[in-house]
Amino acid sequence: MAVFKIAVIPGDGIGPEVTRSTCEVLNKVAQKSGNGFLFTEVSAGGIAIDTFGEPLPEKSLQIAKDSDAVLLGAVGGPKWDDLPGRSRPEAALLGLRKELALYANLRLAILFPELKCASPLRPDLVENGVDILIVRELTGGIYFGKRGLEKSEECLSDGTPKGMEAFDVETYSEAEIERILRVGFTSAMQRRKNLTVVDKANILETSRLWRKVTERVASEYPEVSVEFMYVDNASMQLLRRPGSFDVIVTSNMFGDILSDEAGMITGSIGMLPSASLGTPGTPGMYEPVHGSAPDIAGKGIANPLATILSAAMMLRYSLGLPEEGEKIEKAVGAVLRQGYRTTDIASSSDANVLGTKEMTEKVIEEYEKL
Ligand code: IPM
Ligand code: MG
Repeated sequence: MAVFKIAVIPGDGIGPEVTRSTCEVLNKVAQKSGNGFLFTEVSAGGIAIDTFGEPLPEKSLQIAKDSDAVLLGAVGGPKWDDLPGRSRPEAALLGLRKELALYANLRLAILFPELKCASPLRPDLVENGVDILIVRELTGGIYFGKRGLEKSEECLSDGTPKGMEAFDVETYSEAEIERILRVGFTSAMQRRKNLTVVDKANILETSRLWRKVTERVASEYPEVSVEFMYVDNASMQLLRRPGSFDVIVTSNMFGDILSDEAGMITGSIGMLPSASLGTPGTPGMYEPVHGSAPDIAGKGIANPLATILSAAMMLRYSLGLPEEGEKIEKAVGAVLRQGYRTTDIASSSDANVLGTKEMTEKVIEEYEKL
């Protein structure tokens, strides 16, 4: 029995609705398991810009650092779209990742059997199911590299002055590559033992270093079969044979792009959870893969399941309560089997379309039975 400190960042758009739902589920977990969760609400993202003039106030960061885990809804929205880079809501996400040293981002793309028809792919392409874990490097690469904007004095070959010139640099060290690869290999060992390393080694020096390090680390995991794949090919193969992927490990930018693609293949981005982890013993951050969905914010129709499933990952990876995490996943499965849907995952024939609150109640009801 323990009391865990959870920093809750509702954020923007549908973030507050889905985190509220998830805290209700966690309260039920506390009640049934005898553990306690101490929630501290923390301001970050667009709402923090409006209230405090910055996306990630120091106090918010401190509370996150002092917690056992962070639960985040979503940040961003059209209201803040015109702000420059470092003042945008998204800067809160990048700041949290950097400051909490969350170098490993685990994103699941699972085609829930009950939601097969939600996939935009032809049924024969997904008939054997899809269950992909994308391990994305999260604190390095081009998203954190040197960048700049300056006036160029040069001209194009036809004499046109170049004008302003911007650059973003991709950098990876062996140590950074090795620690994320290890997350990929250990995850593969716990799953189907297939690892795909996605890169652009025909062009990029960083990718060639990824391959070299992979070859060295792979010798420690002889049971894992490793395949290298160029990112352009990977984006194609994901559509052609999604069922053949197990774990994909890749750089920050490629992982950002491929995880959206893989999420879409399942047709239920509203269902997909994620975990961002640092070294063991430091707080992990858990958030749904979907964004802030400003178009449906405040309407009470957002799908809370991705955040609820993210809390299940939190119980497993940060709080040492894997059985409780599994029960949440089972409860979600049971609710889907009974045919309950939120609008984003409902097909025209689904009769039991629920709002955020009702869906949350159903999950709690099922959890109670386990
Ligand atoms: C994500 C998002 C973020 C990212 C943005 C909002 C900074 O797209 O978590 O995938 O690119 O990492
Ligand atoms: Mg993204």
